[in-house]
Amino acid sequence: MTDQTPNPELRRWLRTLPKAELHLHIEGTLEPELMFELARRNGVTLPYASVEAVRAAYQFTDLQSFLDLYYAGAGVLVTEQDFYDLAAAYLRRAHADGLCHVEIMFDPQTHTQRGVAIDTVFAGLARALREARDTLGISSYLLLSFLRHLSEEDAFDTLAAALPLREAYRDLWVGIGLDSSERGNPPEKFTRVYARCAELGFRLVAHAGEEGPAAYVRTALDTLRVSRIDHGVRSSDDPDLLQQLIRQRIPLTVCPLSNLKLGVVKTLAEHNLARLLRAGAMVTINADDPAYFGGYVLDNYLASAVALDLSHDELVTLAANSIHASFLPTPDKNRLLDQLAHAASQG
Ligand code: ADE
Ligand code: ZN
Repeated sequence: MTDQTPNPELRRWLRTLPKAELHLHIEGTLEPELMFELARRNGVTLPYASVEAVRAAYQFTDLQSFLDLYYAGAGVLVTEQDFYDLAAAYLRRAHADGLCHVEIMFDPQTHTQRGVAIDTVFAGLARALREARDTLGISSYLLLSFLRHLSEEDAFDTLAAALPLREAYRDLWVGIGLDSSERGNPPEKFTRVYARCAELGFRLVAHAGEEGPAAYVRTALDTLRVSRIDHGVRSSDDPDLLQQLIRQRIPLTVCPLSNLKLGVVKTLAEHNLARLLRAGAMVTINADDPAYFGGYVLDNYLASAVALDLSHDELVTLAANSIHASFLPTPDKNRLLDQLAHAASQG
């Protein structure tokens, strides 16, 4: 979407608000144009005739129908330059949307299973992230995410392969996530590997309560001991859990357009984002997999604002929540919150 979209004034104002994006899969930022370019560069055959045919295939019925295409698309990512190009394109877009900080998930198993070395993945992403920090002034962290449809042993193997790289990427790699097919793969499947990651000092997040039940949010908190929940929209099915999230200020990284495209909600107007916010939950707005769901973070803010009649104050609160809920050090958060207060007072 561009300024041709409805509400250009609101969009322009939203762009001026300093914001953080906390739920973003870098593999989910692979636009069809880049997919074709990388396929050509790497001699990979795609089962589509054109960019338009790829976009036309993005008709999802649920999470799994999306994941099947997402993993197939990631097959064009082979070299360090590919991972660099992918992340550099996202960061340019993030900067244009007024993001000042991003926490990016990546799925090493998606690549190592195809014979791509984990060093290649780290090196390409890190080069783009450091360059964007220096040239665009946008800061970023990496969250290494385990695929939950695979075994805990596989997650341990991935951690073992990544740990020798920790020192080289200490400025970026701060945390661990859990994604992929949620139903039937409860958080407790990964209790031991999360305990190990906690001992190692990583920040912990996990997808829970996207398609799966509110009970998965509980076990992500109680068993995996995460400090932030990705999605978590099903938490409102359990009023006691919701009260706990509010009391403990546990952030939920909500992705409205993703929820719409994957059938978690039938319409944005019935999304519980505004109800959660008005109940006092620490909700944030994020894009998840923008190349597949038809919108980056600003599109998510704008679509939510329109569908849910969010006030300017509520939109500023959502931006402030994104900074509070980030893993940035407190002085950095305070500086960004000051900038946000200033920007909001200009609107
Ligand atoms: N991997 C990429 N996007 C995802 C999502 N929305 N849920 C679970 N796993 C994912
Ligand atoms: Zn996600």
